[in-house]
Parts: sequence; C-alpha cells; structure tokens
Amino acid sequence: MSFNLLKGKKGIIFGALDANSIAWKTAETIHAEGGTFVLTNAPIAMRMGQIDELAKKTGSKIIPADATSVEDLDNLVTQSMEILGGKIDFVLHAIGMSVNVRKGRAYTDEKYDFTTKGWDVSALSFHKVMQSLYKADAMNEWGSIVALTYMAAQRTFPDYNDMADNKAYLESVARSFGYFFGKEKKVRVNTISQSPTATTAGQGVKGFNSFISYAEKMSPLGNATAQDCADYTVTLFSDLTRKVTMQNLFHDGGFSNTGVSQEVIDRFSE
Ligand SMILES: NC(=O)c1ccc[n+]([C@@H]2O[C@H](COP(=O)([O-])OP(=O)(O)OC[C@H]3O[C@@H](n4cnc5c(N)ncnc54)[C@H](O)[C@@H]3O)[C@@H](O)[C@H]2O)c1
Repeated sequence: MSFNLLKGKKGIIFGALDANSIAWKTAETIHAEGGTFVLTNAPIAMRMGQIDELAKKTGSKIIPADATSVEDLDNLVTQSMEILGGKIDFVLHAIGMSVNVRKGRAYTDEKYDFTTKGWDVSALSFHKVMQSLYKADAMNEWGSIVALTYMAAQRTFPDYNDMADNKAYLESVARSFGYFFGKEKKVRVNTISQSPTATTAGQGVKGFNSFISYAEKMSPLGNATAQDCADYTVTLFSDLTRKVTMQNLFHDGGFSNTGVSQEVIDRFSE
C-alpha cells in the first residue's frame, strides 16, 4: 500500500547491510512512497553486505562513508546534494556496533578502547552526521532526521552491555541538536525506540532469541517488525508530523508501558 507520502522528497539512508536491516526495509518503503535517496554505509560493509542489490532495486546511488569520519561525512553530504539535485529532506541514521559485545566482554569487564570505538560508531556519529548537514546548510526547511534506538537507554537489559549507554547518549544528542536544528533551520530530529528485531546487529546481543520471544509475549500488540519500523519512519519523514521534534518515540507494540502480561504470569504459574 502506498500513499505517495514522500513524493519529491530527497534523503540519505545510513545502515542498510542486508535484507534484514531496518534501513533496508525503510529504503524500500521510502522508494514505494515516492522518495529518492543516496544509500551509504561503512566501506567495509560494502564488501560484506548486498547494498548494490538495494541500490539497483530503488534506482539509488551508493556513497561509502565511515560514520565516524567527519571527512567522509562532509564528502557524503556534498555529493548527495549533487546527485539529488539540491538540499535534503530526510536522513535515517540506522547505525550500531559495540566492540565489547562483539568480543564477548561483559559490562563489568569493558575494554575501554572498545567502549570508545563503539560509542563513536553508535552514538557520536549521530552528532557528526548532523553537524556535517548543519554546517553545509544541507537540509530543507521542515526536513526530518531520525535515528534508531532501544529502550535499554531507560531501563536495564543486562546483555545489551555498553550499547545501553551509547543509546542514552544518542537520544540526548537528538534532543540537543534538535533544539538548534529546529530554531535555525526548522528541521526536526527524533529517535525511534524499536522492538528487538532479528537483524545482524540485533542478533549480536547475547540471548537474543529468548529475549525477542519474551518481548513478543510482553507487548500487547506484539513486537514491531523491521517493516513496521520502516512504515513509522516514513510518517516521520512525511509532512504529516512537522511539529514532532526532540522526542524519543517508542515503537514497540506497547512493551515499554507494560508491567507484566497475562502470558508471562501464566508461564510463572506452570
Ligand atoms: N535489531 C534490533 O533489535 C534493534 C532494536 C532497536 C534499535 N536498533 C537499532 O537499529 C539500527 C539499525 O540496526 P539493525 O538492527 O538494522 O542492524 P544492521 O546490522 O542491519 O545495521 C547496522 C548498520 O550499522 C552499520 N555500521 C556499523 N559501523 C558503521 C560505521 N562506522 N559507519 C557507517 N555505518 C556503520 C553497519 O554496516 C550496518 O549496516 C541500529 O542503530 C540499532 O541499534 C536495532
């Protein structure tokens, strides 16, 4: 179903690695809604992923950029405006990676070089992306910027490790930069706090399969899928949400406001 909500809108999409990626589904959905965009990912992901296939499908160009490199990001912003023929209306930041998680380091045994790297990739990169856009005056008025986050920023999920701290920082950057982007450029900045989703990044979290089943049972509407997230993101990029900014928006089937569900009680009564 398409509503042409993004007809004529131009953007940049970070983080499409493979068909499971939330950014991949979002790119397909934006394309169906009439939007055009540049796809970007870290140079290493170009070799690992299948982004070429997505580019072909959506008629998009790919510009590699390491989201921790200001030089790469400045180049991405300049080139995107050239390719798209003007300023940008929407940006999706769908980037996350913890080296501590990857290397199996517990939260109580962090290697701080790993922590710093993961924070740079997962959280500070959002500031870097926005600063590049801001300095280049690259966003159209009433444009929209979205980053993806997780509820471990507010409540403790032990296996989410240092990503919890990275997400808390990411959400704070959305509020702080959202103020300046709103005041100066009439651009909105929000984070979507998404249900656990079976992607490469998601499955890196220890005990992910049990956790996703638990979240499913705890959410009155069930977990939000990657496609649900894509649909929600489209609404935030559309002109129908122009005054929504500096928010962390839970998109989780009701999980975040559920104390306990009947299904979980039943499990403990067995
Ligand atoms: N999967 C979940 O359960 C879940 C839940 C809530 C939020 N999120 C968030 O959604 C976002 C997208 O993740 P996903 O689940 O689709 O997984 P994914 O693994 O498909 O996407 C993560 C992306 O980050 C990119 N990336 C890593 N380092 C980078 C760098 N230096 N520069 C540029 N890109 C880099 C990867 O190449 C990859 O494309 C992340 O922010 C993640 O934390 C995921």
